[in-house]
Amino acid sequence: MKFCSVWFILFSLVIIFPSCRDKTEKQPSEITEKSNPYYSEDYRPQFHFSPEKMWMNDPNGMVYNEGVYHLFYQYYPDSIVWGPMHWGHAISKDLIHWQHKPVALYPDELGYIFSGSAVLDESNSSGFGTDENPPLVAIYTYHDPKGEKRGDSTFQTQGIAYSLDNGDSWTKYENNPVIGNEGVRDFRDPKVMWHEPTQRWVMTLVAGDHAQFYSSTDLKEWQLSGEFGKEKGAHGGVWECPDLFKLKVADSDEEKWVLLISINPGAPNGGSGTQYFVGDFDGSTFVTEQKANRWVDWGTDNYAGVTYSNAPNDEKIFIGWMSNWLYAQATPTEKWRSAMTVPRKFDLKKVNGEYYLSNYPVRQFNEVITKSSSENLVIGAHTTRTIENRGLQQAEVIFNTDAKTFQLKLSNELGQELLLSMRGGGKQFLLNRSNSGKVDFQKDFGEGVQIMPVPNLPDEVYEVRMLIDRSSIEIFINKGQYVMTAQLFPNEVYTKLTIENLEDEALNFNNFKISKIESIW
Ligand code: FRU
Repeated sequence: MKFCSVWFILFSLVIIFPSCRDKTEKQPSEITEKSNPYYSEDYRPQFHFSPEKMWMNDPNGMVYNEGVYHLFYQYYPDSIVWGPMHWGHAISKDLIHWQHKPVALYPDELGYIFSGSAVLDESNSSGFGTDENPPLVAIYTYHDPKGEKRGDSTFQTQGIAYSLDNGDSWTKYENNPVIGNEGVRDFRDPKVMWHEPTQRWVMTLVAGDHAQFYSSTDLKEWQLSGEFGKEKGAHGGVWECPDLFKLKVADSDEEKWVLLISINPGAPNGGSGTQYFVGDFDGSTFVTEQKANRWVDWGTDNYAGVTYSNAPNDEKIFIGWMSNWLYAQATPTEKWRSAMTVPRKFDLKKVNGEYYLSNYPVRQFNEVITKSSSENLVIGAHTTRTIENRGLQQAEVIFNTDAKTFQLKLSNELGQELLLSMRGGGKQFLLNRSNSGKVDFQKDFGEGVQIMPVPNLPDEVYEVRMLIDRSSIEIFINKGQYVMTAQLFPNEVYTKLTIENLEDEALNFNNFKISKIESIW
């Protein structure tokens, strides 16, 4: 009798409940090794911008002009760690494929060239160009290392430069700096826009723990008009890299202003992160009724991002630096350090009475994705499904689900794994990279679990979209309502994706697809 029941249980487990076993499905292998040796080093991103060599941090001077998207960036051409800052330069016609250009701005006697922005001065208000050939004007921070060493607090000032050949060459303004410093240690990262109602240029600048707004008619003479934030938002660190822009609220006639503020340290998952405020701007100052702190991206690796000036159709297109000051200078790459996020479009949505700034890859990005066919996966209660795909290291994984408790695991032959999970009845999304590969180059990198609250996730079906590019993952939930970006350094590429249903009922993962993303290099 006893013997019989043991056999019955074994029989049931194997035959009647086959779904309890781990199912491994092999997908057609899509090995993405490059035949072309350019940009093929270990961990080299294949569809993200990274400098050919040496150190890069913040995106700077993002401006569109005459069919060209300019991307300048904080660059140190002599080392793979931070040093005297220059503006590196690259251009793109489609925001996806980039062409490297020579360094645009070199340090000079006023200091290093820190972060800033660029605008097309269409009416030649600065007088740097002509009506026929209006200038591009770059507005940046000078950081004087000698002053810093002396212990002064006036070593950061604002300067400008102009280009009459669509960014190929730059001339610094002879009367720099255009804004001096009255004793604020962290006084930097000017972001300039044209404010139509007041017919003025508006500069947003950070001053330690708050933002300041300046206005000008000619980009040379600036008047302080207002300030914001001493008592608003997160204050775990210095405020950096502001941005201010107007957006229409989706499905309404309402327009709101959005202020981005990067902060370091003090991000929700440690180190550097970018918060945003939704409110109003009258040309002089910004106000908001927002109570909660909001973040553009909850992952550890999206910092100092800002939007394009003059983009077609006035779209707000954002690029962030895909790293974190906690460990940026120690990541295990040798020839270059760090990459940018994929360009993302901002949209403003009102969900349950709250404004959300969503960010989602620009539509142009679809051009480098070779879409695979999709399938509808049904995964039984407390069951896993493993999909093998040798192209996972350079892929888009996308599906629609209404699941509230599940885990996704990316893993390699060495047992290294990245864990992503929806928990708390669909109220929290977690990312755990503690055993994802090389983590011990710095103590915080692999530590802890990164948490993203997702309080307003729809009850019905929502989309999960992930972009994996050798040493990074970008996760967009519900079309960019909730976003996480993280770097990863597996010793071998991930080749398996395991989906685990942690609920008592079967779950649907519809239109599930793993698609190859082409190299942009
Ligand atoms: C942000 C930042 C900026 C500064 C630049 C210096 O990452 O600290 O505030 O302008 O980097 O490289």
